[in-house]
Amino acid sequence: MTSTPRLAVLGSGKGSNFVAIQEAIITGKLDAQIVLVASDLPDAIILSKAAAFGLPTATLPPSPFRTKLSPEGEVALVELLQKHAVEWVILAGYMRVVKEPLLSAFPNRIINIHPSLLPAFKGLRAWEQALNARVFETGCTVHFVNRDIDAGEIIAQKRVSIALNDTPESLHARIQIAEHELYPSALAKVFREVA
Ligand code: GRF
Repeated sequence: MTSTPRLAVLGSGKGSNFVAIQEAIITGKLDAQIVLVASDLPDAIILSKAAAFGLPTATLPPSPFRTKLSPEGEVALVELLQKHAVEWVILAGYMRVVKEPLLSAFPNRIINIHPSLLPAFKGLRAWEQALNARVFETGCTVHFVNRDIDAGEIIAQKRVSIALNDTPESLHARIQIAEHELYPSALAKVFREVA
């Protein structure tokens, strides 16, 4: 019998995808265990949500850069993940670009969720990009993380239609509902395939 996959979740925000994953674990829909929740922001809501579930939390060292950790910070993150015997790194609203040595320490083992149907609308506020492009549907994508932003191999996608009266907020809220369904099921698929 294979052992239960050990996950670290990294996030910078409100942690709703983390909660969806943890609830899928608790209800037996996802065979995995979250062994660490870490954030680059000490007051990120994801950390208090993780603590409320009784999960170990950590804050990453401060970085002089807004969009990435410092090289030393990235090394410290790898050490932290190894200390917790993490097997999979799950990004859930983590706002730093993943660099070396993290990429090499977890080859094909870092997964992200992005609020668009990649390869459309990479980057920030993808739901707003979709609205501005006047397309009729968008969605969310779970994908492996590589050195190129929002460009790793796609694992699963879910479509969300855009209504004529959608605002950025209403559309993002509907995409998030789709994300909460997609992320746990996409992880389950990945873990089944490597088992
Ligand atoms: C999600 O929309 C996700 O697609 C993007 O960041 C947001 C995180 O939301 N990468 P939450 O912190 O999980 O609520």
